[in-house]
Amino acid sequence: MTDKTKREGQPFERRPLIYGRAKGKALSRRQQQLFETLLPQVAFPLRTSASDPAIDPHTVFPGLEAIHLEVGFGGGEHLVARARANPRTGFIGCEPFMNGVAKVLAAIDEEDLPNIRVHHGDARDVLDSLTDASLDRAYVLYPDPWPKARHNKRRFIGPDTLASLARVIRPGGILEVASDIPDYIRWTLAETRRDGHFLWTANSKAEWETAPQDWPGTRYEAKAIREGRTPCYLEFIRAA
Ligand SMILES: C[S@@+](CC[C@H](N)C(=O)[O-])C[C@H]1O[C@@H](n2cnc3c(N)ncnc32)[C@H](O)[C@@H]1O
Repeated sequence: MTDKTKREGQPFERRPLIYGRAKGKALSRRQQQLFETLLPQVAFPLRTSASDPAIDPHTVFPGLEAIHLEVGFGGGEHLVARARANPRTGFIGCEPFMNGVAKVLAAIDEEDLPNIRVHHGDARDVLDSLTDASLDRAYVLYPDPWPKARHNKRRFIGPDTLASLARVIRPGGILEVASDIPDYIRWTLAETRRDGHFLWTANSKAEWETAPQDWPGTRYEAKAIREGRTPCYLEFIRAA
């Protein structure tokens, strides 16, 4: 695999980052219909070329007070719960796994959640499209761990994505990273320190081992706890 590639229809040259499953079991008829009819209405707009103007997400969620982005929402439990509980916040959810996107589309349809936009694909497509300092918060929850040293560079948290997150999260905004993999936690702390834009807010072990208030949880997190692993919650403030 080459280090930098430009996929068709994708304006930015960069290393590939999606290695997991794109599709699980076949979509039901209804899910297929939601992909055909609802996804075009709720898809987050992207720049189609690097020379296009960047997209201010406030124009996508007119009148809403804050904008949050979730990278790799999986089955969408966290995204949907947050959107339901915070109708004055616009949520951009990014996920390449088709069956996860289908779940979020079903929730938007059933619950009429006008404050969710979806990107079915790589979160970096959205990061590269956004205007500077346009997000109040970004969540990277249980990113794929890639435990083997030779696969570490596949991890979502890395120099390029942190530079993008630092560009799009406003000063004073928040980056939340959760993981149950101790090496990923150490890695994230080392990478954010190296990047220099994110200040870790925790003062004690109890803080990083306790879920933030009103934490809706995720499916992956529930499985990790069932299997005896301890989640860690890293909160960073984007420095001014
Ligand atoms: C271990 S799962 C965790 C899912 C969910 N956050 C949870 O906690 O249940 C990691 C997710 O990240 C997604 N993912 C991997 N690379 C991604 C990328 N570049 N952009 C967006 N999502 C990505 C995968 O498809 C997968 O659903």
